[in-house]
Amino acid sequence: MKILVTGGCGYIGSVTARFLRNNGHEVTVVDNLSEGHRGAWDGEFHELELLDREAVHHFLDGHQFEGVIHFAARAYVGESVEQPLRYWHANVVPVIFLCEQLEGVPFVFSSTCATYGVPMTETLSEDHPKNPVNPYGNTKLAVERLLRDRDLAGHGSYAALRYFNASGAEPDASHGEAHHPETHLIPLAVQAALGQHGPLTVFGTDWDTPDGTCIRDYVHVLDLASAHLAALKRLVGGGASGAWNIGTGVGVSVREILDSVGRTTGSDVPFIEGERRDGDPSMLVANPALAKAELSWEAEWTQLDTLIETAVQWHRAHPQGYSE
Ligand SMILES: NC(=O)c1ccc[n+]([C@@H]2O[C@H](COP(=O)([O-])OP(=O)(O)OC[C@H]3O[C@@H](n4cnc5c(N)ncnc54)[C@H](O)[C@@H]3O)[C@@H](O)[C@H]2O)c1
Repeated sequence: MKILVTGGCGYIGSVTARFLRNNGHEVTVVDNLSEGHRGAWDGEFHELELLDREAVHHFLDGHQFEGVIHFAARAYVGESVEQPLRYWHANVVPVIFLCEQLEGVPFVFSSTCATYGVPMTETLSEDHPKNPVNPYGNTKLAVERLLRDRDLAGHGSYAALRYFNASGAEPDASHGEAHHPETHLIPLAVQAALGQHGPLTVFGTDWDTPDGTCIRDYVHVLDLASAHLAALKRLVGGGASGAWNIGTGVGVSVREILDSVGRTTGSDVPFIEGERRDGDPSMLVANPALAKAELSWEAEWTQLDTLIETAVQWHRAHPQGYSE
């Protein structure tokens, strides 16, 4: 397949782009490099600002794609609370510009478990009520609805993949997570253990969970990559549109992550006990049954230490991330 990957110089996009290429697909990456890294992707690349309608249309006029996988977005929850307009602009407008020129082309979209808001059940199924608690989640849910409307009008199918916590790196340590600023637990814990970063702050140790820390569902970035190919194949094969949780179904606490990082690095993770953060649910865990049934997808990286080991190797090999 000839596939357009937006945001393909970012963390999940670059790993997915390589996964697609390794599976025999022709991949074109576009990215404005605002957060991404040129060194993260060595295939066909076009520097493109997706907020520039004319540039997007001009680019798409000259190319034909059988599918698009749209990763490009701003993804800092705290920043979205402070700058909601920026998030509505950055996360919704590019989808409109792309869809204007991609009539009938299947669209795979990076959605998020943040579309659910505060969980009312122990694990989250796709039919759980959607009440995002921050602008980031609102923008992602808005795009899901935009894509559903496009589909209903007969202008192209879509798959909204609601990722839980993306984690880990390529097993050969060649590519991994390099956000600036980094806000995700595993890279911060690994960097703290390796002495590349100061102590980690644990946001709340008095939650209603077995060890008092928050529980999340950590899904390896290569498992995310395979979910995108499975979703795109379904759409290209004429399968119905929909939204699918992409998670392991297993909840892991912050303390369990710190213990695992300690074991895999051989060093304790220095940390500070901080206050709870507003809007943080105590637990966010996927029910991934629908993705298994409809996409024939399930997470393979289910051993926590093995998953964390990939992140440790990446940070050891690239203490400064990508060198641009
Ligand atoms: N990382 C996670 O745990 C997680 C969880 C749920 C959903 N997501 C979603 O997955 C996607 C990828 O996440 P990531 O962690 O790889 O993020 P990332 O920031 O590493 O990658 C996003 C890429 O998009 C590019 N980009 C942003 N705005 C652009 C624009 N206007 N024009 C062109 N390029 C633009 C950035 O330069 C960057 O390379 C995002 O949509 C994010 O919301 C991530």
